[in-house]
Amino acid sequence: MSNESDYLLGINQTELDRLQFQHAVWGGVTNAFFDRLGVGAGWKCLDAGAGPGLVSADLRLRVGETGEVVALEPSEMFLAWFRDVIARSGWKNVHARTGTAEGAELPAGYFDLVFVRWVIAFVPDAEAFLAPLVRALKPGGLIAIQDYYYEGLSLFPRGGAFDRMPDVVRAYYKSGGGDAYVTGRLPRLFRTLGLELADFSPHQLAGRPGSGPFEWAQRFFLPHIPLMAEKGLITREEAAAFTADWLAHAADPDALFFSPVVVDAAGRKLEQESSGGRSEIPGHGRS
Ligand SMILES: C[S@@+](CC[C@H](N)C(=O)[O-])C[C@H]1O[C@@H](n2cnc3c(N)ncnc32)[C@H](O)[C@@H]1O
Repeated sequence: MSNESDYLLGINQTELDRLQFQHAVWGGVTNAFFDRLGVGAGWKCLDAGAGPGLVSADLRLRVGETGEVVALEPSEMFLAWFRDVIARSGWKNVHARTGTAEGAELPAGYFDLVFVRWVIAFVPDAEAFLAPLVRALKPGGLIAIQDYYYEGLSLFPRGGAFDRMPDVVRAYYKSGGGDAYVTGRLPRLFRTLGLELADFSPHQLAGRPGSGPFEWAQRFFLPHIPLMAEKGLITREEAAAFTADWLAHAADPDALFFSPVVVDAAGRKLEQESSGGRSEIPGHGRS
């Protein structure tokens, strides 16, 4: 992705509001990931594709006065919002930088942590996106990625139009050049880029109408189903059937929504450059 207008889900206030709600629903999963990785005081962190800096702000709480957080993001609108947060909080060690992972000039061997949430599934070339981020890591530093392995999406009771939605969302990502299964490719990409796999954990949320997960999904599907039709991925009749099925479930207090799988994947930069991916990791090596 070369500029902000390419971002599949759009750059506007509705998307900013959706990202805030999304963080309220999924922030616990993200922070549990940081707990497992031991992110703490003094760490230098890069939040790549930071959006309005919601995770950057959480990272600042962890790293404190002695650490550093850089939010890298191509959208000026999202960054303006986060610059305001930085100013109001009086943070001197949090920086909002405009740019993409592929295009930004990042210091080599600098960061203890590079974090990437819900970005890599949108980019056309995951390796070209990751390589500069890995260069910016210190030897021994961690890259931590959260994104979809787009299975598991479901509305219960089943049997309606929405059962076909996983295929449509995967095609929607593809239409923007992305890959909704990108996390499945991460172990191999990590090996190629000289990282050892440090964590690979799938997560799924579920809830009834009115719950955080249900509302989170509704804020995505109701505005995006018409856009899927505009792109020609579904007909207008299918769009109407998807929306009607969603609203019927939303009106049933005992219906359930299951989220797609979100994977936490972390890679540790090897002390020496990989000579073609021969490192073996306990529990993850080749047999
Ligand atoms: C779904 S939002 C996620 C924002 C944030 N990471 C979060 O979890 O709240 C995806 C963000 O990635 C940004 N983005 C897209 N392509 C990018 C790239 N190549 N490099 C850096 N950021 C990118 C978009 O502008 C958008 O703000």
